[in-house]
Amino acid sequence: MTESEISAQQDAAKRNLWLHFTRMSSYADAEVPVIVRGEGQYVFDSRGKRYLDGLSGLFVSQIGHGRKDVAEAGARQAGELAYFPLWSYANPRAIELGARLTDLAPGDLNRVFFTTSGSEAVESAWKLAKQYFKTIGEPARYKVLSRNIAYHGTSMGALAITGLPAIKEPFEPLPPGGVRVPNTNFYRAPEFVADDLAAFGIWAADEIERAILREGPESVAAVFLEPVQNSGGCFPPPPGYFQRVREICDRHGVLLVSDEVICAFGRLGYYFGAERYGYQPDIITFAKGVTSGYAPMGGMLVSDRLMEPFSAGTATFLHGVTFAGHPVCCAVAMANLDVFEKEDLLGNVRANEAAFRATLEKLNDLPIVGDVRGDGYFYGIELVKDKATRETFDDDESERLLRGFLSLALFDAGLVCRADDRGDPVIQLAPPLTCTQEHFDEMERILRDVLTQAWSRI
Ligand SMILES: Cc1ncc(COP(=O)(O)O)c(C=O)c1O
Repeated sequence: MTESEISAQQDAAKRNLWLHFTRMSSYADAEVPVIVRGEGQYVFDSRGKRYLDGLSGLFVSQIGHGRKDVAEAGARQAGELAYFPLWSYANPRAIELGARLTDLAPGDLNRVFFTTSGSEAVESAWKLAKQYFKTIGEPARYKVLSRNIAYHGTSMGALAITGLPAIKEPFEPLPPGGVRVPNTNFYRAPEFVADDLAAFGIWAADEIERAILREGPESVAAVFLEPVQNSGGCFPPPPGYFQRVREICDRHGVLLVSDEVICAFGRLGYYFGAERYGYQPDIITFAKGVTSGYAPMGGMLVSDRLMEPFSAGTATFLHGVTFAGHPVCCAVAMANLDVFEKEDLLGNVRANEAAFRATLEKLNDLPIVGDVRGDGYFYGIELVKDKATRETFDDDESERLLRGFLSLALFDAGLVCRADDRGDPVIQLAPPLTCTQEHFDEMERILRDVLTQAWSRI
């Protein structure tokens, strides 16, 4: 693009677009970054500058960018049947994708309910839990447990499940019933379990039981947990955590929802995070990686047991959205999963995840790096003011460091990643599943440079 075309594009972007979760004022005197094209693990801006996509867009682009085969599958489907609703009708691609996803899903998750996003998937799971319990004669069960700082989406129901006070407060009152429990941030574990990961995991799981007992088990419908909690900076589950949570849910008749909007479709080297950590959820919510972003899609995979009361007589799950099971999105999801198989992307993550971890752990020699944590191709790097005491930055420092410097400096240096302070300050990485050592090295090099500069500014 020429400079005058870029300038016109900037004017239009600033005049008309409203970017999500973005301080629009920050672009008053700065350019809005405009990404125009993608190829493999890289994206390019309007000036042709290349960036390594260390976040897969937003935990989405599992197969990488610019895959013509997947794009063409969508175009072909649009020519044949672009749209017909999933309300009372089926379409061939939704049927095929339903069969494929339920084949891949663990245990008896044999029913798929499509949505168009992760928030809608979470919203649908809560609505299903509520209606299910009303249908089977336990109408008092409506509450949902979720973890501190966890993000589960932004629609009103999903926001009530989300555990980030700052993004909830402007929209209160939210639907009642959201209850918080501790997350599995071992770096910030309470002192009495700080030296014993397994004991920490059991404590965190037992806190779920204590919350259920406090609220009254007859009032609790579901527990929503991500396999690895994203928000706060990638908290993997301690060994035994999910097994204990499963026992607790069974003991109290509470549904276990595995919110895999980020963790499914290879992010952790498996189709579903529940497989990696060996637990059986009652519902899995998914979105993002199911299409690698070549079209929008979400959904929930539901156990036969939850479907059962809806499979006879007049019983109907009274919920739906216009674009669910959209034929084009389903065709794209099928083509995306073909790439997973043909290129053994799960195998690539499993073969390279130790190297990814080892490369990022090299950053531990920097004074600002407190903790490097994650699994698969999903990592958080927690930044601290004092490594020995694990002292974190105060709000002003965090503002100056993350918003004032790091986010822009990393992008300028050619790396798309996330500098986040919704919990303690972290940098997050979730690159396309096609990445190999050369990409890990590029991430490490850029992070080392920019974090070294950040330290000198504190
Ligand atoms: C775990 C989890 N659940 C739900 C959502 C909401 O998904 P969406 O942004 O597609 O509505 C997200 C989004 O990042 C997520 O990470």
